[in-house]
Amino acid sequence: MPALICGSLSFDTITIFPGRFAQQILPDQLHILNVAFLVPEMRREFGGCAGNIAYTLRGLGGAPVIMATIGNDGQDYLARIRQWGVETSLVTTVAHQYTAQAMIITDTDNNQIPAFHPGAMQEAGAIPVPRRDDLAVAIIAPDGRDAMWNHAHQLHEAGIPFVFDPGQGLPMFDGPQLQAFIDRASWVAVNDYEGRMLCDRTGHSLESLSRSHLRGVIVTLGAQGCDVWIQGERHHVPGVAATEVLDPTGCGDAFRGALLYGLERGWPLVQCVELGNRLGALKIASRGGQNHIIDHQALGL
Ligand SMILES: Nc1ncnc2c1ncn2[C@@H]1O[C@H](COP(=O)(O)OP(=O)(O)OP(=O)(O)O)[C@@H](O)[C@H]1O
Ligand SMILES: [Mg+2]
Repeated sequence: MPALICGSLSFDTITIFPGRFAQQILPDQLHILNVAFLVPEMRREFGGCAGNIAYTLRGLGGAPVIMATIGNDGQDYLARIRQWGVETSLVTTVAHQYTAQAMIITDTDNNQIPAFHPGAMQEAGAIPVPRRDDLAVAIIAPDGRDAMWNHAHQLHEAGIPFVFDPGQGLPMFDGPQLQAFIDRASWVAVNDYEGRMLCDRTGHSLESLSRSHLRGVIVTLGAQGCDVWIQGERHHVPGVAATEVLDPTGCGDAFRGALLYGLERGWPLVQCVELGNRLGALKIASRGGQNHIIDHQALGL
């Protein structure tokens, strides 16, 4: 049965400045900051959490349905998603906006200056969760603020169990608002840092958070894999050795694609995240969030 993926679609432009920011930005001249970085190396990736999660879920053989907005420059992205065989009836084009995009300059010290233009993503809250009974599971991934809020409430009203995955959207919400998401969710998935912020803002520990109606709280731990908290008990699921550590961008999304694949099939949570760890490790060996090759045989699927 299909999984509804609520989140962003974006373009990520990554440029490399072959020098050090520290040598270009003069600390005593900050009042007249006037720098231009020459960036001879550049790549552009299809990104956004919804696109990345759907890529992995589809690659595994699942049936993602993306609910997101794109701008007037998003037709290539739409065609790409259709090519995967993924339903796009809930992807809405916002004609007067660009697609959300991140522009990142990286220097030789691995410092980054990112700029993020939300564009069409700001209007994702206007798309309603469809009333259809074929959706087994859903995810609320980082998106426009209204979108995350509205979609979580609508999924709950529709009785569709969902994973609350606040990611970089977490700081937009205060404690009571985060609690309102948790109250409606069936699972919570965060990384280590987000888990700490979620606990700080809601006054929970991971243990108390999981001792609730939630079917599980998943905390990803980079190379260490993840912890799964079920009714106050922690289950550690060790990471999988990556063949190469090339680009961590989108590991969390690849992990979530696999998580949803397992949830769609009714697997126990620990089995879902074991597959999540394998997909996270596979992803880190390739650049971008949607370029890893998912080999069913190698994964034993
Ligand atoms: N160096 C690594 N080696 C092996 N697996 C990794 C590595 N880094 C991440 N993973 C896998 O990817 C999953 C998600 O990674 P992580 O906990 O870093 O999420 P994140 O911080 O949300 O990442 P993202 O940059 O995508 O937001 C981990 O649980 C693990 O399974
Ligand atoms: Mg993340």
